[in-house]
Amino acid sequence: MGFEKHRDAYHALVLCLLAVWSLAPEPVDGGITSNWVRDANLSADMPLWSDVFRVPPGYNAPQQVHITQGDYVGKGVIISWITPDEPGSNTVVYWAENSMVKSRAEGIVLTYTYYNYTSGYIHHCTIERLEYDTKYYYEVGIGNTTRAFWFITPPGLGPDIPYNFGLIGDLGQTFDSNRTLTHYELNPAKGQTLLFVGDLSYADDYPFTEPQPSYSAFREASFGHGMLEIKNRTHAFFSWHRNEDEIAVEADSVWLLNRYWHSLKEPSPYKDCSLKPDLSSLVYNS
Ligand SMILES: *[C@@H]1O[C@H](CO)[C@@H](O)[C@H](O)[C@H]1NC(C)=O
Ligand SMILES: *[C@@H]1O[C@H](CO)[C@@H](O)[C@H](O)[C@H]1NC(C)=O
Ligand SMILES: *[C@@H]1O[C@H](CO)[C@@H](O)[C@H](O)[C@H]1NC(C)=O
Ligand SMILES: *[C@@H]1O[C@H](CO)[C@@H](O)[C@H](O)[C@H]1NC(C)=O
Ligand SMILES: *[C@@H]1O[C@H](CO)[C@@H](O)[C@H](O)[C@H]1NC(C)=O
Repeated sequence: MGFEKHRDAYHALVLCLLAVWSLAPEPVDGGITSNWVRDANLSADMPLWSDVFRVPPGYNAPQQVHITQGDYVGKGVIISWITPDEPGSNTVVYWAENSMVKSRAEGIVLTYTYYNYTSGYIHHCTIERLEYDTKYYYEVGIGNTTRAFWFITPPGLGPDIPYNFGLIGDLGQTFDSNRTLTHYELNPAKGQTLLFVGDLSYADDYPFTEPQPSYSAFREASFGHGMLEIKNRTHAFFSWHRNEDEIAVEADSVWLLNRYWHSLKEPSPYKDCSLKPDLSSLVYNS
């Protein structure tokens, strides 16, 4: 009788599935576009002493040099860098590729402390009134070890202006990450801006330190969702909502400040943002 009962239930399930099946749209078979299968072995992380992470040689040499969009229309760039030994110069020297005229701009320098950590000297300098679609060279570290870099400004505005975006996600910091970036750089289509969709590092091979040190920014490994509430031009609020027994629990939050409107000329743009112990920067696994 137990069997009969089960069989009835089974028939009911099959009918039910058939009903759902017949209501569903035609099954989609996207086919197979490639037989390529990546190596089953996960690629190893590049060690800290790899060439790609090397501290640049020379006294007070600028590190972590990077740029941020410096205005709304693509004619301004914020150049940021760290000097390790002394504040050094805040000057950026820059020039257009096709020009002999070198310009200079002055930025600011700041430091911060976080528990027993003291940062290097963090410089930010905004250069403005650049030409569109132009390659600029720039130098930082004037007076100590000078390093030169370049960027290309975006093309002007318009509905038929071509623009190439590179797209990369889940990069990690493995030897394969390096291969991916190398291939991107070699791509003849020449990406002008790279949109990077999250996940730069993975904790897979790095066991947690127990007990969690008080300076650690890691909060929890949970599934959930985030909310980003833009309050006004200077303030945004991010909160993390953990899935917990059917309800979403606000498990963490942080205030974010806008670097453009929260003037860089102020002594420390970090003074009430993510670097205080109770508002530490976020590391989430998803
Ligand atoms: C995976 O890595 C192990 C250890 O390095 C090696 O012995 C093995 O041959 C690798 N397998 C493949 C398919 O590359
Ligand atoms: C900071 O404190 C942590 C934990 O006590 C310790 O492991 C680390 O070496 C300290 N770092 C410095 C720069 O003193
Ligand atoms: C580093 O550069 C700064 C700013 O140009 C200068 O004041 C300082 O003397 C330099 N230090 C050395 C050791 O050259
Ligand atoms: C990363 O790739 C570059 C080429 O783009 C190469 O010069 C470098 O040695 C590579 N580094 C590592 C650690 O694989
Ligand atoms: C922007 O929002 C923050 C947070 O709500 C608030 O403290 C600040 O006063 C606001 N600024 C202005 C100009 O309204």
